[in-house]
Amino acid sequence: MKFPKGFLWGTATAAHQVEGGNLNSDYWMMEHLPVTPFMEKSGDACDQYHRYVEDCALLAKLGFNSYRFSIEWARVEPEEGEFSQAAIEHYRRVLNACRDHGLAPMVTLQHFSSPRWLAAKGGFESVGSVTAFARYCERVAHELGELFASACTINELNSVPHLQVGGIMPADDVIAELPWRVEAARRLGTTPENFSMFPFCACSVTGENVLKAHRMGVVALKSGRGKFPVGMTVAMAEIVAVPGGEEKAAHAERISEDIFLEAARNDDFVGVQTYTRRRIGSDGPLGPEPGLEQTQMGYEFRPQALEVCIRRAAAIAKVPIIVTESGIGTEDDTRRRAFVEAALAGVGRCIKDGIDVRGYYYWSSMDNFEWLLGYMPKFGLIAVDRATQKRTVKPTGEWLGKVARANSTEIAD
Ligand code: GCO
Repeated sequence: MKFPKGFLWGTATAAHQVEGGNLNSDYWMMEHLPVTPFMEKSGDACDQYHRYVEDCALLAKLGFNSYRFSIEWARVEPEEGEFSQAAIEHYRRVLNACRDHGLAPMVTLQHFSSPRWLAAKGGFESVGSVTAFARYCERVAHELGELFASACTINELNSVPHLQVGGIMPADDVIAELPWRVEAARRLGTTPENFSMFPFCACSVTGENVLKAHRMGVVALKSGRGKFPVGMTVAMAEIVAVPGGEEKAAHAERISEDIFLEAARNDDFVGVQTYTRRRIGSDGPLGPEPGLEQTQMGYEFRPQALEVCIRRAAAIAKVPIIVTESGIGTEDDTRRRAFVEAALAGVGRCIKDGIDVRGYYYWSSMDNFEWLLGYMPKFGLIAVDRATQKRTVKPTGEWLGKVARANSTEIAD
């Protein structure tokens, strides 16, 4: 399969997962609570805050032409309304490093972590988050926009309903009562009702606020320097109804994906992020089908899910698609290769059928901090020795880089 000219081949990361030392974020605070849902602390992560030049050089050498990363709001606006010019200059250097190495920078403005002050004011459960996010976007775009190749507003802005319908996150009333939420609120000098950290939020209010924040964020990003496409990224799964679960599955698709994809209709693209499929029965989520291969995340090994999701996203959003995340957590790199080959074959079929897919970003460039699960899941194309920070490219990284350079999966290896 030959891919269209100009196809974006990239890898993706998020600031909190790779930079290290994200001290002012809600996530760092949460990781350090005596009762915490995190299995370990993010610590120095991959120290990309200091090693971005080396990392860009490595990704470019492998053959990629783009890099998706996030700007950390907690660094850029450490206190409400107080912007750090030094942090902005840091990201200017990162953006320039991408450009110097021929990597088109795709920038995400918010990838889960937020400044502590936002969490203490209700995070995205509070309507104040909408203007706060827009103001942050405006500042960043004004300073750095001319270096962006493209931008994503809030990563997986549908993650709250996505996790709830998958049975991964409890319902709203349970979330509000979780012991760590009470302790986190105390630490930040607020009450549990006023503490909220994305995406561990109450679904009912968050959805509306993130959609508004996205809309205002798009306007703010476009008001700055530079002209670049802006979109949202949507967490999607191939949702399948097991007999009896048809109604529940349709409802899950509606509340966790469709309303967001419909809201993407005015955007320049929509980012599809797919890892697996979800089976839904008459009592709700069923988990992976017994006997099938599972990934380190406990997901079904299901690369075919990507094609299904691209087709749905294109049909509903009716805008160009970029696969902003596709990947697998596994210790067995041969399974990673098999996963990506199958996922790309699906992307190829979508393109042959006339769907405007403009890029594929593998999650993730390197093994990194997988949120609650810490450093256990290995999603990277590049392994990282966390004691020495030494990077070692895995065979799938070499192979995918060659595919990227050839713009084709028909390569000799
Ligand atoms: C998400 C995020 C990434 C994850 C990745 C693997 O989808 O949760 O965008 O930060 O690390 O998806 O689980």
